[in-house]
Amino acid sequence: MKQFIQVSDVSDIQALINKGLDYKQHPFMDKTLGAGKRAGLLFLNPSLRTRLSTQVAAQNLGMDAVVFNIDKEGWALEFAEGAIMNGTTVEHVKDAAPVLGQYFDILCIRTFPGLQNRADDYAETIINQFIKYAGVPVVSLETATLHPLQSLTDLMTIQESMAETQLNKKPKVVLTWAPHVKALPQCVANSFAQWVTAANFADVVIAHPAGYELSDTYTKGATITNDQAAALEGADFVYVKNWSSYTDYGKVFCTDPAWMLTANSLKHSNNAKVMHCLPVRRNVELSDEILDSPQSLVTKQAGNRVWATQAVLSTILSSKK
Ligand code: CP
Repeated sequence: MKQFIQVSDVSDIQALINKGLDYKQHPFMDKTLGAGKRAGLLFLNPSLRTRLSTQVAAQNLGMDAVVFNIDKEGWALEFAEGAIMNGTTVEHVKDAAPVLGQYFDILCIRTFPGLQNRADDYAETIINQFIKYAGVPVVSLETATLHPLQSLTDLMTIQESMAETQLNKKPKVVLTWAPHVKALPQCVANSFAQWVTAANFADVVIAHPAGYELSDTYTKGATITNDQAAALEGADFVYVKNWSSYTDYGKVFCTDPAWMLTANSLKHSNNAKVMHCLPVRRNVELSDEILDSPQSLVTKQAGNRVWATQAVLSTILSSKK
């Protein structure tokens, strides 16, 4: 694997899931694989889970991980080709990225969308420019449109939970929109839809109010509905997430609290397990009663970020040999 940006970068999704679950059982089984190697973790946005789980995963493989909050501590980067840099940007990515490629064996990058211009965000210019100029493998720590480490973690968590509860059938997995106080990216929802449909082990339903349709690039193979109650009937897993409008880009139309997931919403589910990538707005997206109940997988899900990332880093290290 040369890069980890989206599901098509992975040749065998199930093998990567299994590898992550193996690392959970044996965290240090490859503790020398990354000896003498360094990962650079570039953050243009805040993070708790991604930042720390990536550092732990790298350390479990014997790698050094160096965090750089490039938005606050680095020079202001220019990403446009041919830019006349007489404004606020100080350094072009085509100069900065190859330098970082000299310092690090793998570059990991987090960047959010602006949610102002859909074409700009969906062009994924920032990570694509790093891929073009760094000269080393690039791992997405979440970009404008996708969050692949989260999605790999999510599939691992579903399969782990199915084994623990002896759920021996094709699960019904529902991704449901939830209210929020601000406009959020579509990336977690896009990415989860992309991975869970590609992995092809579940019946997938996406529920959202009208106006929150995701790009069909990511949702092929899923059933899409505006009826949350119908979607939740018989659900085995419910993934709760807010996203802003893709069609009327970045806008928020609906904040209807009836879309918040509560115990009552799940009364016709199959005792569904509930997932969220975190951070979560309690009692806006998801009720306390769910988050504090045994039905919630959110802490386990966040813990699994380490093992998913370890699987990705080790696959890249092994391919570089
Ligand atoms: N889920 C997730 O990516 O969390 P952070 O934003 O805290 O990294």
